[in-house]
Amino acid sequence: MDIKILKEAALKFGTPIYLYDLKIIENQFKKLNKELSVLENYKIHFAAKSLSNISILKFISKLGAGLDAVSIEEVKIGLKCGFNKNEILYTPNGVSFEEIKEAFKLGVKINLDSIECIKDFINEFGSQSITVRINPGIYAGGNENVSVGHPESKFGIPETRINELLDMEIKGKIKITGLHIHTGSDITKNNQFKEGIKKIFSIARDFKNIKSIDLGGGIKIPYYDDDTSTNLNDYVKEVSNELNKFESEFNKKLKLIFEPGKFLVSDCGFFITKVNYIKSSNAKDFIQVDSGFNHLLRPTLYGSYHEIVNLSNPEGKKKEYDVVGYICEKDTFAYKRKISETKKGDLICFKNAGAYGFTMSSNYNSRSRPAEVCLLDNKLHKIRETETIDDLLSGQIDIFN
Ligand SMILES: Cc1ncc(COP(=O)(O)O)c(C=O)c1O
Repeated sequence: MDIKILKEAALKFGTPIYLYDLKIIENQFKKLNKELSVLENYKIHFAAKSLSNISILKFISKLGAGLDAVSIEEVKIGLKCGFNKNEILYTPNGVSFEEIKEAFKLGVKINLDSIECIKDFINEFGSQSITVRINPGIYAGGNENVSVGHPESKFGIPETRINELLDMEIKGKIKITGLHIHTGSDITKNNQFKEGIKKIFSIARDFKNIKSIDLGGGIKIPYYDDDTSTNLNDYVKEVSNELNKFESEFNKKLKLIFEPGKFLVSDCGFFITKVNYIKSSNAKDFIQVDSGFNHLLRPTLYGSYHEIVNLSNPEGKKKEYDVVGYICEKDTFAYKRKISETKKGDLICFKNAGAYGFTMSSNYNSRSRPAEVCLLDNKLHKIRETETIDDLLSGQIDIFN
């Protein structure tokens, strides 16, 4: 995005601020559709957890995507934003059965990930058509926190319990119409994707009522020049091969579902902060910005990389800095990063902040969460106010008053 627009947003709406370029989301959506078009029958369900502002969700719904929701709140917000019931796939993990009941009653598609809650579901609603999340027993993904399909992971029904699922189906207690896997995020090793694809198509052979396979998210985009990314072409080829084999062997058509988060919205997001101080200490210089892990958690949580640009001096001579926040615990955004010479008051922008940026933000240290803004047709629109002290206090009860 043009540096002028990033600076304009910061000047107009203040810092810190999240800015999303809707054109980038649209382009990513088109790019993915182009790659997937060989598959004929497929649907993209956007992973709401990655970016859930209602204006963004409405925009993505209008592009033609469905929704991947993991909580009843995401389901309700999705419905409000125009996604049809049958375009919302609810994939809870470890939630209360009350919540699953509520989602079912709202009419959205239910994708369950444990034998235990399927039993409750059958007791409550009798024999219904549902889809299920399988744990394929594969280590995949950019780091441990986002690797969720391996044998020790809490997600999905383990392969060792698939026979229980088949038994329930044979006895007419439930109808399994689809299988789902999501092995991890930021997957660059295509053999990890391949392993998952092969595994799920092989498991699908035993499910006679199967109509769909959901391959989850995990596509990685580059975060800097020369960074690795998922080879989409190879990925789709592998899916297509397995699909063709399955369809010709069983003489039936399957629908495929994809649940990208980062692929659609990582690139579109810019998090702009202001430098409070340049602090010199023990042979290093810290850039101290007016934010912290309360606003952008990923670097602290799992060392995610965000390209950092000094918008106020983009062409300046590079110097090495640690970029840190104002939180009372370690909140380093980047270590030993080469950034154009920076001074107090400069605007510092973190790229690839669209996915899991604002949605992971918090009020830690009683800090307000920042405003969100989007760029649509060359115009900036505020899509969330900066929280106020009243927002922070609302809902709290003063028993001494
Ligand atoms: C079930 C499921 N689907 C899709 C996604 C989206 O993953 P990504 O943002 O890597 O595409 C996630 C991420 O946590 C997920 O848990």
